[in-house]
Amino acid sequence: MKAMQLTTYDKNNIALNLVQVEKPKINARQALLKVTAAGVNPLDNMISRGEVKLIVPYKLPLIAGNEVVGIVEAVGEQVSEFKEGERVYARLPLDSIGAFAEYVAVDSSALAKVPDYLSDVEAAAVPLTALTVFQAFELMQVESGKTIFISGGTGGVGAMAIPFAKAKGLKVITSGNAINEQRVRNLGADYFIDYKTEDYSESLSNIDYVLDTLGGKETEKQISILKKGGQIVSLKGMPNRAFAKRMAFPKWKQLLFGLAGYSLDRIAAKHDVTYHFVFVEANGKQLQEASNILAKLKIKPSIDTVYSIDAINSALDKVASGHSRGKTVIQF
Ligand SMILES: NC(=O)c1ccc[n+]([C@@H]2O[C@H](COP(=O)([O-])OP(=O)(O)OC[C@H]3O[C@@H](n4cnc5c(N)ncnc54)[C@H](OP(=O)(O)O)[C@@H]3O)[C@@H](O)[C@H]2O)c1
Repeated sequence: MKAMQLTTYDKNNIALNLVQVEKPKINARQALLKVTAAGVNPLDNMISRGEVKLIVPYKLPLIAGNEVVGIVEAVGEQVSEFKEGERVYARLPLDSIGAFAEYVAVDSSALAKVPDYLSDVEAAAVPLTALTVFQAFELMQVESGKTIFISGGTGGVGAMAIPFAKAKGLKVITSGNAINEQRVRNLGADYFIDYKTEDYSESLSNIDYVLDTLGGKETEKQISILKKGGQIVSLKGMPNRAFAKRMAFPKWKQLLFGLAGYSLDRIAAKHDVTYHFVFVEANGKQLQEASNILAKLKIKPSIDTVYSIDAINSALDKVASGHSRGKTVIQF
């Protein structure tokens, strides 16, 4: 089969190579998917640049791609929840990615059924962002009636986070590129901040929850707008000790992440708030829950550009260049 492989970690080159490899074999708990679409994410480029090596130390060469939609072609003898011919999707488990290929073997615990109202391309925009939001909200144990600030809500994460936050009964304040203001208001944002003209840290305070998609200096700024007892989940800030413990990393890695995240943990403690870091994991049960909410709300993710598998490197460049108006997707 055709597959797109990462052969070397390189900060300056995110290109994948086209290879012909054997169709994967499944174990008793896996399903074999004929891939119909795959989401392209900033994470794919981060993996190529070696930026997540400490979190997931992949052995190269590696078939890339984290997010998949496909038709079940075969199932292992212990798989009873899915059958041949079903349309399913997943954020692939961290230790067995490979969505940029004609076939992929997926542990059935990562899979969920694709809601009928979504096309394959639309569905490819769902698993990673939906699970990210679910896992962030679960960490903060968000409660109805409270307020959340979602930074960069005009991107892919925001497109899921805003409707899910509204479905949880939260008041949503978001920041982002003003070109997309109406789109995020249509998703349910109650208040919009144009990041190019307004500094949210001057206008916002007493916020219950923050979902930080920006990282860097912005994480500290977002900590400062929380009320005492508030919580922030960062998708781009420093991983900390609590994260390493949750991931059941060995002691030396817990120590290392403890040092890396020390500064943000300390700043959070000074403000009497809690800092969390999330690295989104596969979870078919959560994805099914998210799918049920999406199917009820009939929310269609925004799609930016669709590429063929042969144009994967253009798709990765597109994602690397930013200014996303929705998801970049590979259609098979
Ligand atoms: N840790 C995890 O598990 C995890 C999971 C999912 C995503 N992520 C990370 O989360 C980040 C966001 O993902 P995404 O898919 O939503 O990205 P995206 O689709 O590229 O969207 C980013 C959005 O943020 C806007 N933006 C840029 N700078 C901003 C600022 N200073 N203030 C407010 N908005 C700003 C962008 O507007 P412009 O058009 O002006 O650029 C764009 O609309 C990525 O870095 C991704 O790697 C992490």
